[in-house]
Amino acid sequence: MTSLINPYEEHISEVIFTAEEIQTKVKSMAEEISLDYQDKNPICIGVLKGVFFFMADLLRAMPISLEVDFLAVNNYSPDDRKHGFVRLVKDLDVSITGRHVLFIEDVIDTGLTLNYLLRNLRDRKPASINLAVLFNKPKLRFIDIPVKYKGFDLPDRFVVGYGLDHQEKFRNLPYVGMLKADSILDV
Ligand code: IMP
Ligand code: MG
Repeated sequence: MTSLINPYEEHISEVIFTAEEIQTKVKSMAEEISLDYQDKNPICIGVLKGVFFFMADLLRAMPISLEVDFLAVNNYSPDDRKHGFVRLVKDLDVSITGRHVLFIEDVIDTGLTLNYLLRNLRDRKPASINLAVLFNKPKLRFIDIPVKYKGFDLPDRFVVGYGLDHQEKFRNLPYVGMLKADSILDV
């Protein structure tokens, strides 16, 4: 074992969900989704980059036939995000026409990004499309999006860890925590 000290620890003021709580939740979501999709060979789509920790744990806990693909998006600016302007910087590798799509997201906040992406995917005529979201921030939702598989509700606070970043850091924390106020610009 190494004795490295995690450089992120000093920036976290409060643990919101422990690694164990997250793993337990992800396993129970995986069980429910597996039962629903066991005969559907779903294509599981995630939006890079934040989702990859959740997606890796979720899909490894699903003992069914499935496929994986990714989208990547850029918001032109924080202001554009408010208005839902999203640019696809990586499209899917395969066609989803006639396929059962499981759309997987780490966090849903205003819902604008997701709303844009769902419209885009629905235009491709999948057989079905459902959403699995680990962290749901209900308070800021601008657009009502039906989430079939939900993990945790999150307070309307900025959190990091388990895929969620601040300036690309903290994604690899195994738990989710609040950043100290003075760490927000200073990591
Ligand atoms: P929205 O639902 O369109 O507002 O956008 C959600 C995106 O904002 C997510 O994919 C994250 O990249 C980011 N985001 C929202 N809340 C948080 C947070 O608390 N920590 C880190 N990133 C967040
Ligand atoms: Mg994201």
